Amino acid sequence: MTTDPRYPSLTFRQAYFDDPAAWAALVSLLQDTFGIDLDPLRRLGGADPTSMPLGWFDEDGTLVANLSAFAMPIVINGRVVRAGAFQSGAVRPEWRGRGLYRDVTRKALDWCAAQQFEAIVLYTDKPKLYEPYGFRALPFYTYSGPMPDAPGSAARARSLDPMVAEDLDLLRQALLTRTPVSDMIAVCESAAMFLINTQFDPDVRLSWLANERAVIAWKSEAEGHFTLVDVVAETIPPLSAILSGLGIEATSVAVLFSPDKLGCELLAQPLQSYTHFMIRSETPFALDAPAMLSPMADF
Ligand SMILES: CC(C)(COP(=O)(O)OP(=O)(O)OC[C@H]1O[C@@H](n2cnc3c(N)ncnc32)[C@H](O)[C@@H]1OP(=O)(O)O)[C@@H](O)C(=O)NCCC(=O)NCCS
Repeated sequence: MTTDPRYPSLTFRQAYFDDPAAWAALVSLLQDTFGIDLDPLRRLGGADPTSMPLGWFDEDGTLVANLSAFAMPIVINGRVVRAGAFQSGAVRPEWRGRGLYRDVTRKALDWCAAQQFEAIVLYTDKPKLYEPYGFRALPFYTYSGPMPDAPGSAARARSLDPMVAEDLDLLRQALLTRTPVSDMIAVCESAAMFLINTQFDPDVRLSWLANERAVIAWKSEAEGHFTLVDVVAETIPPLSAILSGLGIEATSVAVLFSPDKLGCELLAQPLQSYTHFMIRSETPFALDAPAMLSPMADF
């Protein structure tokens, strides 16, 4: 805990997740700022173990400004990049415009420098906030096309509910041993992010394909349209095996990551999104082919 004459009523704390009151203060800040509830993460195995939350608390224990950094190794263009990531960046309205976010951003950058990360990544709807620190937006692409032929429908998938202990065990084991879903850009593990993201998008379904030993995250929002969101497996099965395993009957398919391991031909289109994925590194990164990070890795 430290103080600063610029903010005499505030106390700076880092690595505070072991304190339940401080965790609750972060949950409240993110609920008030973004309308998201991070608390279910406690039932899903907790925050990423590498998390380094950096925050300013007032005298009542309210968290008024925060930015969290964590290690997020990602594969980019076939190579594992030791990346760090920023998340949970927010300042309460009454404290904005006083340099608190600049302060936690600098502290987070210092922590990343000490970890010797090769790159730092983040998502934001305010790219201008991060450009002065050397972050650059990386455009993302989805893939889509007509439904490929899948061998005779042999639906044998089982639904998974992360809030059921047995299913959570299976999911966590699969996340621990997963291979990146793509060689273009994909997380190596990021289990906590995958698990909390299952709670944020009610349309995403999880299915277990026992033969392929694969967890499939998918949606079917519009009649006749199938969206593949992520695959968690030691070996990524081809799209045709996923479709027949799920027993999907659709006319069109979209994939929310590069399908380089799926054995299928689909067309890339720029992702329409109000958030931008940004990366900061010594040498600029460009993807060898259009791609995006699966939304199950959103952080
Ligand atoms: C964006 C936010 C974190 C800024 O917090 P803040 O404490 O007011 O920021 P600071 O006073 O430390 O200002 C830091 C710098 O960011 C700039 N800045 C502030 N808000 C900005 C915005 N909306 N867009 C672009 N730049 C912004 C400031 O001009 C300042 O620039 P400087 O370092 O060149 O002087 C705060 O408004 C917030 O919590 N907003 C809602 C949640 C959010 O957008 N989180 C971050 C996006 S992931």
